[in-house]
Amino acid sequence: MKLTVVGGGSTYTPELIDGFARLRDTLPVEELVLVDPAAERLELVGGLARRIFAKQGHPGRITTTQDLDAGVDGADAVLLQLRVGGQAARQQDETWPLECGCVGQETTGAGGLAKALRTVPVVLDIAERVRRTNPDAWIIDFTNPVGIVTRALLQAGHKAVGLCNVAIGFQRKFARLLGVSPADVHLDHVGLNHLTWETGVRLGGPEGEDVLSKLLSEHGEAIAADLRLPRPVLERLGVVPSYYLRYFYAHDEVVRELGTKPSRAAEVAAMETELLRMYGDPALDEKPELLAKRGGAYYSEAAVDLAAGLLGGGGSPYQVVNTLNRGTLPFLPDDAVIEVQAAVGPKGTTPLPVPAVDPLFAGLMANVTAYEDLALTAALHGGRERVFKALLAHPLVGQYAYAEGLTDRLIAHNREHLAWA
Ligand code: G6P
Ligand code: MN
Repeated sequence: MKLTVVGGGSTYTPELIDGFARLRDTLPVEELVLVDPAAERLELVGGLARRIFAKQGHPGRITTTQDLDAGVDGADAVLLQLRVGGQAARQQDETWPLECGCVGQETTGAGGLAKALRTVPVVLDIAERVRRTNPDAWIIDFTNPVGIVTRALLQAGHKAVGLCNVAIGFQRKFARLLGVSPADVHLDHVGLNHLTWETGVRLGGPEGEDVLSKLLSEHGEAIAADLRLPRPVLERLGVVPSYYLRYFYAHDEVVRELGTKPSRAAEVAAMETELLRMYGDPALDEKPELLAKRGGAYYSEAAVDLAAGLLGGGGSPYQVVNTLNRGTLPFLPDDAVIEVQAAVGPKGTTPLPVPAVDPLFAGLMANVTAYEDLALTAALHGGRERVFKALLAHPLVGQYAYAEGLTDRLIAHNREHLAWA
């Protein structure tokens, strides 16, 4: 089995390699190719990756290349984990929306739109080249904003599934709190990428006993503290929202906070400098502790599970993925991309049925789906007016004066990445 990681020079890659090494029985990778335009990063990350495999006795071969076409040749699956414009562009996404009183975040709100506009054309170009070399390869997309990027890929007819670590993070946390093994926790997980709610926590599988209310009554304080939302809010919702919902439920509070501290991009950039320095140490042969301070916990487990399922070797029968709605949530268009539990196999992903969704959550999903649709149109066709309309449709923007100010800033800060601007 051959896997290719596009954006393989990411400081996150050792997390992935560590997962491939530990879970080699689930996913027997024979050849792993790291593709990245940044030669220096490739060398540092590739070196550590090989040492991790060697230490764990993994027989797989790891190679690096700057040549995408060569890198994807013969791959069974291609993982996309790239960031167009790097942390510098992210820093912008997190900063200029604050000037308009709006949240500055890399995947939510106006910053997320900027990221989508920069990213969709690049990812589609990569996917096209994958298809040309290798039409049967699965594309596993970690590239944010995952919902919009996956929708772009599926609309262009690619064999793609979008993936995020929010669900697996909750699964692991709830398993710890409940004192059971993660494989025994099945989440009723519903929404769009970075806009999800856990509406049930079942023991043993999709038909298992729902222990969510017990979990909330016994551990509500810890769960709420983690999400940085008041416990009574969680109790009134009766579900567990992902931490991205804080940007909606506590938008103004978040904006005030963001105004008083360095951006996450700045924090991450500092960590990346340190991580790359560590990766260059020939004595380092495992993922360093510092990597745990990044947001990517368990993404390797999620990737291994999904690749194993898609490539026919096993993996969990049901997994939370980003896939086409196709009637699963009847209040959304069939071609929307939703994040739900799905049966995973070599033919792809089939969402499990979802019981009726409370309007309290369905309304926001519908609104953000409409925004994502307009955002994708803007990313594919460009133009100031399309950007403005996507922003106007976003529930965190809504007013024309905000949308105007944000549109001007988005275009001004992203000109070098937007072919049409
Ligand atoms: C979580 C999200 C990812 C996001 C990451 C950011 O893992 O699910 O989609 O990319 O956080 O983490 P960072 O360490 O870069 O802030
Ligand atoms: Mn994510």
